[in-house]
Amino acid sequence: MREVLLAGNWKMNKTISESIELAACLKQSISGSSKVIIFPPFTALTSVYDVIKEGKIELGAQNMYFEEYGSFTGEVSPLLLADVGVRYVILGHSERRHIFGEDDILINKKVKAALKNDLRPILCVGETLVERQEGLTENVIERQLIGGLDSIMNAAALKVIVAYEPVWAIGTGINAKPEEANSVHKFIRNLLNKNYGGNLGEEVTILYGGSINSGNIEELGRMEEIDGGLVGGASLDCRSFIEIYKKLERAKSTVAWGE
Ligand code: PGA
Repeated sequence: MREVLLAGNWKMNKTISESIELAACLKQSISGSSKVIIFPPFTALTSVYDVIKEGKIELGAQNMYFEEYGSFTGEVSPLLLADVGVRYVILGHSERRHIFGEDDILINKKVKAALKNDLRPILCVGETLVERQEGLTENVIERQLIGGLDSIMNAAALKVIVAYEPVWAIGTGINAKPEEANSVHKFIRNLLNKNYGGNLGEEVTILYGGSINSGNIEELGRMEEIDGGLVGGASLDCRSFIEIYKKLERAKSTVAWGE
């Protein structure tokens, strides 16, 4: 079911005390109807969960391994994440793909493991600048999306949230033009319809990510195919994240979009 959603990816930032402070500030100020999920570093998950557990903000993790337990030094499993209150997990983020060499086969195993353990994956897809310049955007998105969802049945696919994050827009201050992002989102919906049959593509929540800030979220949020945002840098500051949240709510209140 499509929903308006704002996700804050804190990446490798925030000590435990800084995380508690940010989570407490967000909890106090987030009161609208759109969903909010925050993704603190692993070390702060338990402390942040304690702060937000009775509020409306939900907890996510930035990555995980696909096995449930065992000899995988340094990895974290879906079981261990669920144990500390995590309900969502970002998978296939471009930093995982490009810095840590994760490929679609590995990401697909992670997506399946998340779903099996009742964690909702946010599957990230997006082209690099060179790929865009070479006209390969749709090929890359198709490969990442279909690869990431390989052998996942319709009912489970509905639980997946997709995030379109053009690599050239992440952390650069250059966001995709709203119409550009909107048309890639439409392409993703069409791909999902084709792959799964019916209109599954209209029901999946698709976020845009890449240099979202309080100055561009309204324009992005007014796009029909964009259900919300995955925010990196601007999610590290309470005031800026709340401003983004309020502007997204305002933008969506003026758009008729799918249920
Ligand atoms: P950014 O990061 O908002 O800092 O560009 C987005 C992301 O990496 O998810």
